[in-house]
Amino acid sequence: MQRFDVVVVGAGYVGLSTGACLAHLGHRVTFVDRDAGRVEGLSAGVIPVHEPHLGDIIRTYRDRISFTTSLAEAVPGCEMLFVAVDTPQGEGGSADLSNVAAVARDLGRILAADPGGRSSPLLVVNKSTVPVGSGDYVSMLVREGMSGVAEAEGNGADFRVVSNPEFLREGSAVHDTLFPDRIVLGSESEAAFETMRELYRPIIERSFEPVPSMSGVGSLGGLYGTSPGPFPEGGVPFVTTDLQSAEMIKYAANAFLATKISFINEISNICELVGADVTSVSEGIGLDGRIGSRFLDAGAGWGGSCFPKDVSALRAAARERGYEPGLLDAAVAVNERQRGLAVAKLQQEIGNLEDRRVALLGLAFKPGTDDLRDAPSLYIARELRSLGARVVGYDPVAGEKAREVLASSGVDLEVAEDPHEALRGAHAAVIVTDWEEVRSLDLARAAREMEEPKMLVDGRNVLDPAEARAQGLRYEGFGRG
Ligand code: UDX
Repeated sequence: MQRFDVVVVGAGYVGLSTGACLAHLGHRVTFVDRDAGRVEGLSAGVIPVHEPHLGDIIRTYRDRISFTTSLAEAVPGCEMLFVAVDTPQGEGGSADLSNVAAVARDLGRILAADPGGRSSPLLVVNKSTVPVGSGDYVSMLVREGMSGVAEAEGNGADFRVVSNPEFLREGSAVHDTLFPDRIVLGSESEAAFETMRELYRPIIERSFEPVPSMSGVGSLGGLYGTSPGPFPEGGVPFVTTDLQSAEMIKYAANAFLATKISFINEISNICELVGADVTSVSEGIGLDGRIGSRFLDAGAGWGGSCFPKDVSALRAAARERGYEPGLLDAAVAVNERQRGLAVAKLQQEIGNLEDRRVALLGLAFKPGTDDLRDAPSLYIARELRSLGARVVGYDPVAGEKAREVLASSGVDLEVAEDPHEALRGAHAAVIVTDWEEVRSLDLARAAREMEEPKMLVDGRNVLDPAEARAQGLRYEGFGRG
């Protein structure tokens, strides 16, 4: 197997997971991040994100992984450079490319001064989710950076831009990187495809060593859909296309999944009106191979760092070109309504929420992560506080972070150490995130600890309604008849 010298710019979820997995495959990886504290921590083995297996891999391959704040130090000698910096939501919903642009310009200046002696052009591989057309924009900025260095005009190392969107989910990032459904590459260069295929060969052929911490039952964190699945004949599909289509694939995949969830949420609301149970409906439609059973769980809706920002960027891109993306607009509108429904259900049952104690079980935007970006819990906490309720939250990892985020916008949240501490004396509870601790809640104990009317809104439809009611809880799911 060919071993590559790889630079990964941006040591966040995407960069760290990609780089760690490349090191696991045998490649040498240098991470570059402008945050000196983060780099120092990582060098000492402190992983800044909550992501299963990441720490184990990074600590295991210390001999082939290094961290620096200096792009100039990292680039000479590297054969490919992954750009994995964040592209936050900018004005008007479109993606803010300033971090990507800064890396491209810096790289240009460095390449101008460093012809590098590579046998083939440096591959600049874009992992960040960028609007369609950004690949060409990055090429332009690198060239601009190069030509800005007067003495190197016309010289400098050659490079090719490649788009390689990631589809990893937080909480199972390492797993998703090692066991992808497909690898997507966009470039104008056949040679670039071949080099990338070589880089990923152990993943395509699933020939890499197992990750020790992944062995054993439940080691993938108990997340939905994390089983590697059968190995596809002929290896993991390797989709090669032009830059624009690769960039669009990322947006289309996320927009489709977000719309799929909004679709089942819409069906769930209709189920409530007609007396059907959406969990049975999901099962019944999901078995149709054309529909598929994943991402059909109704509830408090989608959040996180990708779906909201990517759907919004796609809508903005369409609008800028004079197209009204009605379906995507509706997916977002349904999602916003879902968050409000948790509070509406409490009001319907309890009436005035003033001074009522409400427990939020789970705060991260989904289980397996401490990420609170666009988390439904934050919206629900703010709503409840504005209605005068006392809000106490429990989350196995994101409690303190949630308290800080809410405090910064003047909303106070009491944080409990475990679900039962949160439930003690609570008039109502909302399951916002389906952590295992929440799914396996001792309902009899919960009923003893809570105060009348002991209302439990199951925002993820994870409990058995009959059992919850039998234990004396006033149970209300989403779309369950
Ligand atoms: C997502 C995509 O899955 C991934 O491919 C992409 O690269 C980044 O965005 P992630 O943001 O980590 O990954 O979360 P994901 O597991 O997809 O869940 C997204 C949201 O949808 C969560 O808030 C989750 O609670 C919600 N969800 C998911 C549902 O409400 N119902 C479902 O059936 C599935």
